[in-house]
This record gives sequence, C-alpha cells and structure tokens, in this order.
Amino acid sequence: MEDPLPVLFASLLGLLALGSLNGQVEARAFFVFGDSLVDSGNNNYLATSARADLPPYGIDYPSHRPTGRFSNGLNIPDLISESLGEETTLPYLSPQLNGERLLVGANFASAGIGILNDTGIQFVNIIRMPNQLLFFVQYQERLAALIGADAAQQRVNQALVLITLGGNDFVNNYYLVPFSARSRQYSLPDYVRFLISEYRKILMRLYELGVRRALVTGTGPMGCVPAELALRSRNGECDPDLTRAAELFNPQLEQMVSGLNSDLGADIFIAANIRLSSFDFVYNPGAYGFVTSKIACCGQGPYNGLGLCTVLSNLCPDRTLYAFWDPFHPSEKANRIIVNNILRGSTDYMKPMNLSTILAMDPWT
Ligand SMILES: *[C@@H]1O[C@H](CO)[C@@H](O)[C@H](O)[C@H]1NC(C)=O
Ligand SMILES: *[C@@H]1O[C@H](CO)[C@@H](O)[C@H](O)[C@H]1NC(C)=O
Repeated sequence: MEDPLPVLFASLLGLLALGSLNGQVEARAFFVFGDSLVDSGNNNYLATSARADLPPYGIDYPSHRPTGRFSNGLNIPDLISESLGEETTLPYLSPQLNGERLLVGANFASAGIGILNDTGIQFVNIIRMPNQLLFFVQYQERLAALIGADAAQQRVNQALVLITLGGNDFVNNYYLVPFSARSRQYSLPDYVRFLISEYRKILMRLYELGVRRALVTGTGPMGCVPAELALRSRNGECDPDLTRAAELFNPQLEQMVSGLNSDLGADIFIAANIRLSSFDFVYNPGAYGFVTSKIACCGQGPYNGLGLCTVLSNLCPDRTLYAFWDPFHPSEKANRIIVNNILRGSTDYMKPMNLSTILAMDPWT
C-alpha cells in the first residue's frame, strides 16, 4: 500500500512555497523557451554538437565550470531570475528538476533551434519548438501532481515567460549556405513574413497553455557578431544581408506582438528589442567599458570569429572588457546591459512596457 504521508507532505510544501499558509508570497515561476541565447544546459543531455559543455565556457560562472550556458558566466535568463529575486530555473532535462524545484519554473530552451522545424538540422538532436511546447505540457502535469491541478494552473498563469527565437532561422537556415533551400523558396521579405506568422502560432500556443506574461525577443545584431565579421565582412563592418534581415524581422515582430495583444484583449506579450540593446554596446563599446565589440573573447581566426570556443582557442584574460564572449554570444557583462534594458528600458526597447513596470503591476509579484 502507498504511504499517503509523503504525498501529503509534498502538497504541504507546495502550499507553503506558494505562500498560502503563511501569507508570504513566493516569487513567481519563470519559464524559458528558445535558442542558445537562453539555453541553460538542456543540450548537454542530448546527442548534438550544439553544446557548451567544455571549458572555457562557464569560466566566470559561480562554479567556474561549463554548465551548457553559451556564456563565460551568467546568461540572460539567469539575470532575469536574479532580478526576480529567485534561484535560476533548471534545464527541463536536468535530473535535479524535481519536487519543490518544479515550483521555480523550468528552462526548455535548446541551442540551435529556430522558429522553423528545419532550422538547425545540422545539429540533429535538439529540442525544436513543437517539443519544447510538449515538454511544457508534461511539466504542467508534473506540477499538478505535486501541488494539485488548480494551484498548478494558477502558478502557470502568474508566471513570467521568456521566449527568444529567430536568429538561427537566418544564420543556421536561410543564410547558412549560398542558395539554401529556404532562400530559393522565399525572397527575404517573404521569408520574414513567413517566420513572423509561424512565431505568432507559437505565441498563441503558449497562451493556450496558460501563459499570461511573456517577454518575446527577436534577433540580436546578427550581422555584427564576430562570426559574421569573420565569415562575411570585408572590412569589419556589419554584414549587410543579416543586418537587413534583422531590420525587417524585428519591427514586424513588434507589430505582430501588438496585434496579438489586441486580439487577446490584454498585454500578454511584451516585445523586447535586444537588437537595439546590443547596438548600444556594438556601436559604442567604450561607453560600456568594453575594449572591443568586434573581437570575441574566445575563438580563433579573424575577430576570433571562426570555429568554436574550445580549450585550444585564444582566450582573453579579462571577460569584462569584451562585448562578445564567443563568435556568436554576448559576454555576461553584455547580457547585463541587455537585461538592464529589459528591466528599465524605455518603450524604444520594451513594448508596451518594461519588466519593472510589469513587476509593479502584477499583484502576485
Ligand atoms: C513543425 O513540426 C510539427 C510537428 O512536429 C508540426 O505540427 C508543424 O506543423 C511543423 N511546422 C511547420 C511550419 O512545418
Ligand atoms: C521603465 O522602468 C522605469 C523604472 O525602472 C520607469 O521609470 C520607466 O518609466 C519605465 N518605462 C516605461 C516606458 O515603461
């Protein structure tokens, strides 16, 4: 016979954590979806080449060890958790994501994925968006088993969500090779429209699954990352094709988000312009204490932009002086600038409002 005590105890813990018993309100849950900008280690559990599981990744992380984050230290979700006053959300595939830890939320992101299923096919085994959403359903079932269906539903409704998609649909799909299948199928403006309509479906699905507050980011400054400077730029200027792609994509994303909110009759989705945040330090690195925004801290070849960041790569001694950690990803310090804009930025960065406004508005925060 099953012992009912552990179950009762687990539910009590759940209630305590939710603050229902002692009146103290626990920080809201946080869920993360998307690509390598926000993957906190899911790909370490998968057979794929898209992983950051070897040194020097994580060199400035509290453990000084690689965790699967594509950063020298903390990534964007970590810094959002920090600002919520909450511990970091674990990767969904982590065996430690159990019991009470489920209340904190979960990170479903997977490096290499995009809006489209055919993005990142070269990485083989990654968690594409349909599966990230299936895992979210599975997560909710596990949470309901822990604290009951109603409390689980409420925890999801009151959660904060971050979703970051789009970069790979250009870098690892449309522009991956000359004459790629997608570039033969679509002109760039048509491709952007297609991506936006598919992104909208993903956001609608999040809404159907109970999400009521989600930060939605577009692409970063794809044309200006050290990898593209090394591969596609002649004189170190940002690549015009990827720059045009980002110029088309990001404003249409904002429009789509705003239209979706009107259809839903509430500000469910918040468009976060991480491209603009990145431009601040890409075009004016000195103002943020960086010595360069063109050369990656870790890498090799021109701009340290070729290949992967590995133990054999060049490694800068001081990561706080570099805007880019590896050929594609910002350093922790650059991530802090991005998250500061998410928290406090004007409507140029955050539409219709920034995260500190949301936190002040939502009564359960
Ligand atoms: C992506 O795959 C899922 C199933 O895995 C499918 O339902 C969906 O229609 C696909 N999306 C596109 C745009 O083909
Ligand atoms: C963003 O946040 C700050 C508080 O940090 C606030 O003063 C400001 O008005 C906000 N801006 C917008 C547009 O919501």
